[in-house]
Amino acid sequence: MKFFIAFWLILGIAFLGSAQQKITYTEHIQPIIAKNCVMCHRPGGIGPFSLLSYEDVTKRSEFVAKVTQIKYMPPFPADKSFQHYANQRGLDSIQIALIQQWVNQGSVEGKKKKNASLSSPNTPLSISARTPDLTLKMANAFTIPNTGIEEFRYFHIPTHLTKDVMVEAIEFIPGNRKVVHHSRVMVDTSGRMSGLEGMEASDPRLVEFQKIPMADQFLYGWVPGNDRIQFPTGVAKKIPARANLVLNIHYSPSSKIQTDQSTVNLYFAKAPVKREIQSMIFYEEDITNPPFYIQANTQPKFYMSKGPIQEDISAISVLPHMHWLGKSFKAFAITPDGDLVPLIKIDNWDFNWQMTYQFSTLLPIPKGSVIIAEAEYDNTEANPLNPFKPTRDISYGWSSTSEMMEMVLYYVKYQPGDETLKQ
Ligand code: HEC
Repeated sequence: MKFFIAFWLILGIAFLGSAQQKITYTEHIQPIIAKNCVMCHRPGGIGPFSLLSYEDVTKRSEFVAKVTQIKYMPPFPADKSFQHYANQRGLDSIQIALIQQWVNQGSVEGKKKKNASLSSPNTPLSISARTPDLTLKMANAFTIPNTGIEEFRYFHIPTHLTKDVMVEAIEFIPGNRKVVHHSRVMVDTSGRMSGLEGMEASDPRLVEFQKIPMADQFLYGWVPGNDRIQFPTGVAKKIPARANLVLNIHYSPSSKIQTDQSTVNLYFAKAPVKREIQSMIFYEEDITNPPFYIQANTQPKFYMSKGPIQEDISAISVLPHMHWLGKSFKAFAITPDGDLVPLIKIDNWDFNWQMTYQFSTLLPIPKGSVIIAEAEYDNTEANPLNPFKPTRDISYGWSSTSEMMEMVLYYVKYQPGDETLKQ
């Protein structure tokens, strides 16, 4: 592996150096930006500015060179040398070098291409080619106050489904991209969640709702830049008849009054689906070194484990979840033969970029394996994201000033060939 990286690097540097070729925006840079940046950096996107035009990019070319070199952009917190994902982002070393070189040479534009397409194949516009089978919108627009304080709110949307449906793709469309920071979609069949409407995470009544078991604790999680989850053919999530969706939306602080009415789109499988996606959810009760209590001025580590698992499974995706004190997260399976199946490794936890990591192919985990997760927290003042200064003891809870350690694995029963089934 190392050899190949070195080989490509040398080749890349030789290419950059020997050709004495002018690196131009049109020929070299625009395709990189289009593929990796404009899905967020475009008018109405969640990036703080657009990078659609040559002028947009040159205006801040030094900055672009810097953030790509330090791999701050495009954002992707997971370690790609630990596991590969279908939805991974990142520039390779040649692309990073090209941007550096282009800026060093004075950010030349080059000959304009005729009919050059400025949008990326990954823009949210192009993924909605198919009409959703069921569009579920929040009943009312929610008003986000102009207090400049972040808001965590719960909403409830009845599906009115009269029979169970198999869902092969799920999409969350924020009603107001300026303020919708992230969202989690859950499924309830108890019919007892309607009182949640608009409730704040700090509301003491929430504790009672938390006790009601959900049919699906985690149908889908959305963060900016992740516009749809699409499962491989023949694999789908079931939503039961008469289910209600429960949304937990995190709104960014706003100095202006804003409103939001977000939507969930469901795409039903067209052919009968035999393989139903299950969620394996790791939470507080799976912690093997309880209590989950993070004392002020400590940096504790907690472990969770499940298993040995009772059947051969194929993992589809992994989603780790912590709040502001999270520092690092790692998860893997140990097979009965002692082999390690890497799931995820995040060295610098970023609360703002929590995503569902979909493996490049289905990932087999054999019967008898134990799945382990470890998470580190930093409850010192040195953690710039610590919500409390001076620091306080923190316990488990849904609100973002409490902490969580959670992991959701989507999986199906293993079938031969899954290891090559691309997602
Ligand atoms: C998934 C969405 C997303 C993608 C993809 C993305 N960005 Fe960003 N970018 C953001 C957001 C959100 C911010 C503002 C918050 C922050 O700085 O983290 C940002 C900030 C920036 C900044 C300012 C950094 C600062 O410190 O203020 C630059 C420069 C930038 N992006 C360039 C890029 C470039 C170049 C690419 C592609 C190689 C890219 N971004 C890809 C979402 C994205």
